[in-house]
Amino acid sequence: MDRRLEGVKNILKKYGQEQLLDNYEKLDDRKKEKLLDEIEKIDFDLINSLYANTKKPINNGEDEITPIDYLDKYKLNEDYKYYENIGKKAIKEGTLAAVTMAGGQGTRLGHNGPKGTYDIGLDSHKSLFELLADNLKEEGSKYGVTIPWFIMTSRENNEETVEFFEKHKYFGYQKDKNIFFFIQGELPMIDTEGKILIGEDGLVKLAADGHGGIYESLVKSGMTTQMRHMGIKWVFIGGVDNCLVKMVDPVLMGIAIDKGVTVACKSVVKANPHEKVGVFCRRNGRPNVIEYSEITDEMAEAKDKDGELLYGESHILCNLFSIDAIERMGAEPLPYHAAYKKASFLNKDGEVVKPTSPNAYKFEAFLFDAFGEVDDMAILRVKREEEFAPVKNDDSVGVDCPKTARELYKKFYNIDK
Ligand code: UTP
Repeated sequence: MDRRLEGVKNILKKYGQEQLLDNYEKLDDRKKEKLLDEIEKIDFDLINSLYANTKKPINNGEDEITPIDYLDKYKLNEDYKYYENIGKKAIKEGTLAAVTMAGGQGTRLGHNGPKGTYDIGLDSHKSLFELLADNLKEEGSKYGVTIPWFIMTSRENNEETVEFFEKHKYFGYQKDKNIFFFIQGELPMIDTEGKILIGEDGLVKLAADGHGGIYESLVKSGMTTQMRHMGIKWVFIGGVDNCLVKMVDPVLMGIAIDKGVTVACKSVVKANPHEKVGVFCRRNGRPNVIEYSEITDEMAEAKDKDGELLYGESHILCNLFSIDAIERMGAEPLPYHAAYKKASFLNKDGEVVKPTSPNAYKFEAFLFDAFGEVDDMAILRVKREEEFAPVKNDDSVGVDCPKTARELYKKFYNIDK
């Protein structure tokens, strides 16, 4: 242990991160070893460059942003049936799997537990996980198949998530046969001086690496190999917090197959030109999503010859990928974006500090930053009231909250009470 400890001390000295051992002597042997394991795994050069990036202004000025084509699901006319038939055939052949990203912290909602366990207040008191399970089972039964379900958790919420599923008998799914759990990657959190924080448990303060971590996690955890064994070719990836998410969509699948693209995404039209959402675009010719903060008012308001917004297709985290595309996207590291957050930590005297305002950087990759890896993708505009009821905020915010999601859900499923 002593030689190992010396080795770790040398690394920390080299990178100016000696504070990571401030509370080392107070830990029991198991935790001491765990802390050393964690420190040995840290890519300190990456942390240094991420810290340096927090000091640089964000600059997308050099990028050429142009509109991207999309199809409107309800203006496909006779093509609707054509695509639908192609998709139906592929689903019946058992080539579709669903992935639910449930590794987020859900800080805005403030629910004590994994977001998927949240009850949005329906009379049935079903959790988000159960609402998603209901939809998957119902859709699968239409095609005579069980759609395999893969759930991404984080180290923070994995145990609680799996316990929840266990308690609810996996909502009729069978663990390791048609439902699988995998844990996403993490990165250390740093303070404003670039120092890595120690969490309340005395170990490195780690945070999930964003929904962009999905590709690498699917590959590294062996899930893509598992999918291939099961004959899966297409993977729908969506968030846990959209209670109207339609993971099984033959039209979307038919379009991807027919057009020979490896990625097909759904969009909903912006509620108004200045809605604070990311929209699909081309960045330097490649498919991408541009954040609302990055586009000018002029771009936000620009319309095409049919009077539709040029940048009006919001990204709603409803994306279909071929397994090849996932593997390609998982092979290259994505850029990390820094988010300035409140994070409790242990100070050098071993006291827990619970800040009341942001104090630390968390680094997250965004799923759509990988879109540029493919030459082209299809975008299908769907109806907001049919497919998008997000649960992001608590009810006091009034938008994208349990109340609005519940109302949309009830309206769609024709539930009176
Ligand atoms: P959001 O970006 O809305 O984050 O995630 P969040 O964690 O749910 O909520 P806030 O921002 O802390 O309030 C969109 C989807 O991506 C998943 C979330 O679980 C949600 O389904 N996600 C996000 C992950 O799986 N991992 C992450 O690291 C981040």
